[in-house]
Amino acid sequence: MENAEIHFKNRAEKYNHSSNWVEDQDLIRMIFELSGAGKDSEVLDIATGTGLIAKEFYGKVKKVTGLDISPDMAKHAEGCMDEIVFAPVEKLPFPDNSFDAIVCRQGLQFAELDKAIPEIYRVMKPGGTVVLCHLTAYNETDRELAFAIQKLRNPARRNYLMPPDIAIALEAAGFGNVEDTEYLSDESVNKWIDNGAIPKENMDAIRELYRTADEGFKEIHDIRFTDDDIIDEMLLVIATGRK
Ligand SMILES: C[S@@+](CC[C@H](N)C(=O)[O-])C[C@H]1O[C@@H](n2cnc3c(N)ncnc32)[C@H](O)[C@@H]1O
Repeated sequence: MENAEIHFKNRAEKYNHSSNWVEDQDLIRMIFELSGAGKDSEVLDIATGTGLIAKEFYGKVKKVTGLDISPDMAKHAEGCMDEIVFAPVEKLPFPDNSFDAIVCRQGLQFAELDKAIPEIYRVMKPGGTVVLCHLTAYNETDRELAFAIQKLRNPARRNYLMPPDIAIALEAAGFGNVEDTEYLSDESVNKWIDNGAIPKENMDAIRELYRTADEGFKEIHDIRFTDDDIIDEMLLVIATGRK
């Protein structure tokens, strides 16, 4: 497994254009709405990266703090948040009961979940809301191939997620009112794999896996082959819960 900090050092420059969901304003607004944050809220955006999620909260809440391990990603996050903190999600440098809302989009696939989710619970104020949005496979039919593609596209990935995985971890940590919301995103495979951090061999291998995919995978992902691209309808699951 590649080191996540090195991976994102290589991706930082291109990150904001490395998929359609990255800059999808409907998805970003949905995460804001689900958090229930308001003008008196103190919010933590975990794995803030270039600050695209934190930016939606900035100016609308009392304080939004971004947390990440990558100074290279954070260089692109200027003006998106009140404060940035460099630390891993597995060891949050905040006292117990610090935040009214905690959000994370596409960060926990790199984390040790059995440490990260209890840490999120610890620093959440009682009554606070958590919103965690992650790419998952759909079901057993596409699982193996979806994970093989994800591994080639991001060798720093630690977790390969199925739709209920984050919700199950939230419940195990003590969160209540846990719910999942599904969000579908049409992705250009050319755009998604040109992330600046993987060699051409990986990109070629990914295209080959799409071309030779079984009919079940193609149907579930609504795969469309165009003249020079492949379109994949990817599934993001947004897990929410209350402390
Ligand atoms: C795919 S980006 C997501 C950025 C942002 N949340 C978004 O939705 O655009 C993943 C981010 O997770 C960060 N990351 C990886 N492992 C981490 C960890 N253990 N703790 C905190 N952040 C981590 C990376 O540095 C990177 O900025």
